[in-house]
Amino acid sequence: MERAFINFVFCGLLLLIGCVSSTTVRDLDPLIRRDLLANGLANTPPMGWNSWNHFSCKIDEKMIKETADALVSTGLAKLGYKYVNIDDCWAEIARDDKGNLVPKKSTFPSGIKALADYVHNKGLKLGIYSDAGYFTCSQTMPGSLGHEEQDAKTFASWGIDYLKYDNCFNDGSKPTVRYPVMTRALMKAGRPIFFSLCEWGDLHPALWGAKIGNSWRTTGDIADTWESMTSRIDMNDVYAELARPGGWNDPDMLEVGNGGMTKDEYISHFSLWAISKAPLLIGCDVRNATKETMQIISNSEVIAVNQDALGVQGKKVRMEGDQEVWAGPLSGYRVAVVLQNRGPHRINITARWDDIGIPPNSVVEARDLWLHKTLKKQFVGHLTATMNGHACKMFILKPIS
Ligand code: GAL
Repeated sequence: MERAFINFVFCGLLLLIGCVSSTTVRDLDPLIRRDLLANGLANTPPMGWNSWNHFSCKIDEKMIKETADALVSTGLAKLGYKYVNIDDCWAEIARDDKGNLVPKKSTFPSGIKALADYVHNKGLKLGIYSDAGYFTCSQTMPGSLGHEEQDAKTFASWGIDYLKYDNCFNDGSKPTVRYPVMTRALMKAGRPIFFSLCEWGDLHPALWGAKIGNSWRTTGDIADTWESMTSRIDMNDVYAELARPGGWNDPDMLEVGNGGMTKDEYISHFSLWAISKAPLLIGCDVRNATKETMQIISNSEVIAVNQDALGVQGKKVRMEGDQEVWAGPLSGYRVAVVLQNRGPHRINITARWDDIGIPPNSVVEARDLWLHKTLKKQFVGHLTATMNGHACKMFILKPIS
């Protein structure tokens, strides 16, 4: 089974390199022909929370602290959600007279170091945001272009654990030139800081991201709709073979709990992100999350697929009309499967062993990860399930003979 998988990976990789413009590959800056990032992080995809999808610029230190409290009190932290990530709009528009970034006095009066201490005391980690340009996307704070070493030092001195690095208002130079400057600066600053490249997939960062970052956005921004969510995961799927422990494809943050999709659609969103080994960064207000939202983002069996030690991104292995089969290998010769109904009507979807990398005559035990039940029936050759419009079924299949 493993050899079949390696062949599958290899063919996919050749196909991908053929598909993306060969100019892009040839044009890679010599600076990143070798690995620059050795921070030992991201063995599994990162898990945590980020302020942008729900709060955009309406953030302050009180809300960030309350979010950290809520991650602990709801049990989300114990499930692995440890990064508390502040997105855009946390700094003053002007640097101080020494050129340092300054936390916004009206919203972060105690400063970022105090916030990092607070978050660390809860056993969590603090993330921050900057930009490989002159301003961040909101235009309310400076970017780090030309200040990389100084800003990396500042972040390290504050105790920052994660940096999301955006792409707005840059100087027109290639991301393959601008992003490695921050990688070097972070390495020099001497603190292991998860480096999240937010380059929106412009120059196929999956092809070069692993040398300089721990994750790379493969898409533009997600919105809280079915169409946006499904299109993000499809764009991300193209690069499946390039994810690996240490560096992950990032189809953008979760929208679960923000109200724009149905329960079934959010379950699909979470399942597809999990099997695709995407960062699981909650994007709702966890202080006021509903029971339904909590049930989805707290599904420890689905999270375990995302965090599995094998670290292989699952991919779409069959698509026929509205029927989609997503699959990926897990440790222990198990296989994760998502049967995804992309259409509005109730349908059957079948996972065939030869599509999902299980030997033809294997007898398989199936665990339904949303029902939390191991099915009584054993399966040979295929497994068929029925689901409503925009709903999915997620299984772990385990060959038992
Ligand atoms: C976008 C980025 C978003 C968010 C926003 C902040 O470029 O993709 O995730 O960070 O900027 O302004």
